[in-house]
Amino acid sequence: MKTCLFTLMMICATAFSVCRAQTPVYLDDSAPLDARVEDALSRMTLREKIALIHAQSKFSAPGVPRLGIPEVWTSDGPHGVRPEVKWDEWEQAGWTNDSCVAFPALTCLAATWNTEMAALYGKSIGEEARYRNKDILLGPGVNIYRTPLNGRNFEYMGEDPYLASQMVVPYVKGVQSCGVATCVKHFALNNNEINRHTTNAIVDDRALYEIYLPAFKAAVTEGGTWSIMGAYNLYKDQHACHNSYLLNDILKGEWGFDGVVVSDWGGTHDTWQAITNGLDLEFGTWTDGLSSNSKNAYDNYYLADPYLKLIEEEKIGTSELDDKARRVLKLIFRTGMNKNKPWGALCSEEHYAAANKIGCEGIVLLKNDNDLLPIDTDKAKRIAVIGENAIKMMTVGGGSSSLKVQHEVLPLDGIRQFAGNDIEVSYARGYVGDTSTVFDGVSSGQDITDNRNEDELINEAVEIARNADYVIFVGGLNKSRFQDCEDSDRKGLELPYAQNRVIEALAKVNDNLIVVNVSGNAVAMPWVDDVPAILQAWYLGSEAGNSIAKILFGIENPSGKLPFTFPVKLEDVAAHNMGEYPGTKRNDGSDITDTRYNEGIYVGYRWHDTRHIKPLFAFGHGLSYTSFKYGKVTASNSEMTANDSITFSVDVTNTGNRAGAEVVQLYISDEKCSVDRPVKELKGFKKIYLNPGETQTVSFSISKDALSFFDTGTHSWVAEPGKFTAHVAAASDDIRSSVQFELK
Ligand code: GLC
Repeated sequence: MKTCLFTLMMICATAFSVCRAQTPVYLDDSAPLDARVEDALSRMTLREKIALIHAQSKFSAPGVPRLGIPEVWTSDGPHGVRPEVKWDEWEQAGWTNDSCVAFPALTCLAATWNTEMAALYGKSIGEEARYRNKDILLGPGVNIYRTPLNGRNFEYMGEDPYLASQMVVPYVKGVQSCGVATCVKHFALNNNEINRHTTNAIVDDRALYEIYLPAFKAAVTEGGTWSIMGAYNLYKDQHACHNSYLLNDILKGEWGFDGVVVSDWGGTHDTWQAITNGLDLEFGTWTDGLSSNSKNAYDNYYLADPYLKLIEEEKIGTSELDDKARRVLKLIFRTGMNKNKPWGALCSEEHYAAANKIGCEGIVLLKNDNDLLPIDTDKAKRIAVIGENAIKMMTVGGGSSSLKVQHEVLPLDGIRQFAGNDIEVSYARGYVGDTSTVFDGVSSGQDITDNRNEDELINEAVEIARNADYVIFVGGLNKSRFQDCEDSDRKGLELPYAQNRVIEALAKVNDNLIVVNVSGNAVAMPWVDDVPAILQAWYLGSEAGNSIAKILFGIENPSGKLPFTFPVKLEDVAAHNMGEYPGTKRNDGSDITDTRYNEGIYVGYRWHDTRHIKPLFAFGHGLSYTSFKYGKVTASNSEMTANDSITFSVDVTNTGNRAGAEVVQLYISDEKCSVDRPVKELKGFKKIYLNPGETQTVSFSISKDALSFFDTGTHSWVAEPGKFTAHVAAASDDIRSSVQFELK
């Protein structure tokens, strides 16, 4: 009996080991990633490798069907998962199961100055992308806010490289924890939309390394992003999607990026450069990224037959091809073939709650004279709401980040809901801006046409405002061209349409005027002295009306801080004062426009500080319904060496009568340096929550890295010994306490 049992066991064991031996390594989840990649690569034909590295449809690449290696499906965008489009079109596929949650735009996320919100955001949107079976989420965008005219600033994280670096890392980790790759974009120097395919950005290395690269570097070296999207523009006369400096030297060389460089849609222009300058996955060729799209013959892509032909004619080897294929295979093993990834969720209560929370934490209270806000619901009987942005859906439009949402709570609806039944809320249009309601075949379902003239609209608004207890004007920008919209820039800093006239007319008839500015960019406010309360409310997505109302009625205490400067006028902006914008078109027959970033490192508050230009509202500014007192900042020691760190501590007390959050900011000044440096630079921030009367000690520990500048001579970061000053601040123009220390 025992013998035959033993024999049986041996037969099973042998059978198992034989069949196990036949399980290819690339399919073995327990095998190391590189071993799986090498095994898969060794099984692929030349044509399969070529097919792997370019699109097969508008948003997918083929994988390796014969080996059971799945397709790679990508989807926009940074604020939510784009509705399904037809195989080879931008137009809607007409699905009815692809409505999503629209999360607040990334300027709002940056304005929370709360890395926990970034983690929540990444996980939430990652779950939606996972549920929709996407392998790459085409976002987030981290291009620095160089000019307030850039149409896509609403998709990015502001003017400061440290803030953007801190906020992008948790977002990347959150999304990728769902088995979905982020595709951090647009690498690099895509700081305007006008001439976006032909702008050649000319920038010195200090500005490149100190301002425009840090957020991408953090996404790669700290966030571990599995893919990066090349930008449309050129740098050093090479398109960024196949740029040897940006992709080979910096991204893959200096930073050791092991992921996939994805072209922007239509960003590839040359086979040889695409082969040798670091592009790994070509998408969207023959389109301009958004509109025109000829029937794409995918075999004609730059990395398709033309590449195959060069190899077959032995004009080039296959080492570059194998490197590209390895990177794409690695991404597939991390995503589509990752058996351990979670299942995701779509339109869950948790996702709406996340959108709402991020919105509430990101709204910035710019001004609140006489504590007009929050609205006192005991006193208020009549509230007048005025403005097109109170009723206009903002999740549709704006370019590739446009979404089809399951719902979007409009500001007027949110205000009505939270006002309750005892308060009469009336509405008047005030002005008519952009009545379009469709983008790429997605309709907001609204009809907001209104043919009355400017005076009729203003008179109606003034009438309902005259005897109201509170007047709430909801205006700003929108997602149509020449506003906050991809592929076009704004024409100026001013509010479009007749908004300034309406606001001034309302200010004349009612002192309790609140302006809610819905935008992803700074706007001019010539009426700022006549308006007692101003809220910066971003594109807040599905929960917009709820987040805005919660702040207006004081259910939530605002704690957002500006991620970019609001200049008084355009000439106060470095890019429009010292820099070139939009640039100078070459007259050499090429269609290239050279844009010289003459302002160098002096972007945003760095410029305003150095040139003593008072902003309308400063970077890092944001008020609360309570107040905070800062104690004196102390340093752990008066000097430090290059090998150790130094800690600054400050006590912050909530001196008001309600709980609230404060973002304590740390800026560092280099008192003496061999090169010019900004007056101060953000090197730390912490958001703390305090009950009335509560005090917390906030500490920042920094190393010499926080004291360094990029030395172009040695191509390295250098901290020069000498005196420095640490400032703790409530805003870049609101330093509360400073302490000197020395780097030995
Ligand atoms: C667009 C955008 C990019 C987007 C891509 C796909 O042109 O520049 O951000 O992800 O094409 O829609």
